[in-house]
Amino acid sequence: MTTITLTSTTASAKSRADVLVIGVTTGSDGPMLAAGADDVDAALGGRLAATLEALGATGKPEEITKIATSGSIKAPLVVAVGLGDAPAAGAAFDLEVLRSAAGAVTRTLSGTGSVALSLPAATPAEAVAVAEGSLLGAYGFTRYRANGSVKPPVKSITVHTPVARDKSVKDGVARAEPLAEAVAFARDLINTPAADLHPADFVAAATARFKGVAGVKIEVLDEKQLAKGGYGGILGVGQGSMHPPRLLKISYAPNGAGRKTGHLALVGKGITFDSGGLSIKPNDGMTTMKCDMSGAAAVVAATLALAQTKADVRVTAYACLAENMPSGTAIRPSDVLTMYGGKTVEVLNTDAEGRLVLADGIVRASEESPDLVVDVATLTGACVVALGERTSGVMSTDDGARAAVIDAAARAGEQMWPLPLPPEMRPKLESSIADLTNVGNRWGGALTAGIFLAEFVPEGQRWVHVDIAGPAFTDKAYGYTQKGGTGAGVRTLVALAEDMAASS
Ligand code: BES
Ligand code: MN
Ligand code: ZN
Repeated sequence: MTTITLTSTTASAKSRADVLVIGVTTGSDGPMLAAGADDVDAALGGRLAATLEALGATGKPEEITKIATSGSIKAPLVVAVGLGDAPAAGAAFDLEVLRSAAGAVTRTLSGTGSVALSLPAATPAEAVAVAEGSLLGAYGFTRYRANGSVKPPVKSITVHTPVARDKSVKDGVARAEPLAEAVAFARDLINTPAADLHPADFVAAATARFKGVAGVKIEVLDEKQLAKGGYGGILGVGQGSMHPPRLLKISYAPNGAGRKTGHLALVGKGITFDSGGLSIKPNDGMTTMKCDMSGAAAVVAATLALAQTKADVRVTAYACLAENMPSGTAIRPSDVLTMYGGKTVEVLNTDAEGRLVLADGIVRASEESPDLVVDVATLTGACVVALGERTSGVMSTDDGARAAVIDAAARAGEQMWPLPLPPEMRPKLESSIADLTNVGNRWGGALTAGIFLAEFVPEGQRWVHVDIAGPAFTDKAYGYTQKGGTGAGVRTLVALAEDMAASS
């Protein structure tokens, strides 16, 4: 685990860290030093900007330029990270720019012992953003590497900021640490190959991780209990696999039971591998499908962060876990499933399986009448076509609830965008023999999935659907995000729950 310390000393040139990091912005006349770099510049004879320019630095976002200090200061290496255009005079930096820059540094400096960051951090929000980004970037998935075949994450981080002693900064960093650990936990689950993370393994990993965390209760339904309870969606999707499905429920309640607090229910798609089932995917569509449990990872990880920070809100998370495999026992296109709650679904494409497990989870979560149900899922390729690889689609029957999720995402530094649920698309889901089918036609597939899910939300229940198919997994590293599982959704869910805590 990476450790983080804050210091109010501006004398970063005296730092004993292995690497000293400063910021550069794009000037009209070459790169410009950002706040926090003065001291180092003076120690290097005032030639830092000129040296960076000579090395080709422009200050564009996340650009990394390394300068050997050759004994002129204690740190053997100065790293300049690009921050893009400087904000207008007196204005603060965009917080996501700072998170991304700090994270790009720690991500690319894996193998380094200690890193000191002297980036613009004059305000508490900026200082916390630098801390949070640097922690998110200090992640590595090493489980499958032979010892020494890959560099470990940065061990210790020091953030130089004049507001280090500010209470809001201390609180912000005390929140950023468990938050980054939760994101790392989600990434670990996603990155683990499906052969080593079957539904029961997911349950075991979550149970182990919550051990000793106060205020948390864990309940698990195995395949027999799912059958008894009538969870036809989760069972149907899982019936082709040798590794049976599970419904994992994690409940967190803050101390002082009986007090009136908000209640947030989370439902995550937990397909530990999506082969498509009998409607099998081509190989290229399958290679990243270990990521199809990213929604379940996000809701479990967010609940972990909220429990560890003792958030003043009740959270009930459901992970709908199944492996979607083709076999002699698998569901066939045209089979009818009876979902939890009694609605029937004619499965015309076994690759549209996420909505089947989520339907059970949404009906179950709504039984407790929470203030809000949010489901998170790598649900449709169509959402990636619509919004690209870094933006999640947000759908709801409640404009206010949808706006609340998108607003929380913006503050958390996650890209989310509204998509509609047009009523005229509902007839596409009409089945000739069951209550509805699980697929529409080729147009607007993300919306069709949302409309399907809406059918399972009881009247009067506030609900939001977040399709994270694009951002959940990346084949390219960027900012504080490594290749592979990203932990998309975790920070938004935490921010949303905190908003509910603050307003209840
Ligand atoms: N897990 C996939 C969606 C997905 C695609 C996630 C790409 C991440 C990246 C989902 O189960 C799926 O297969 N959806 C189908 C639905 C279709 C059959 C209606 C799709 O998007 O093609
Ligand atoms: Mn699928
Ligand atoms: Zn899927």
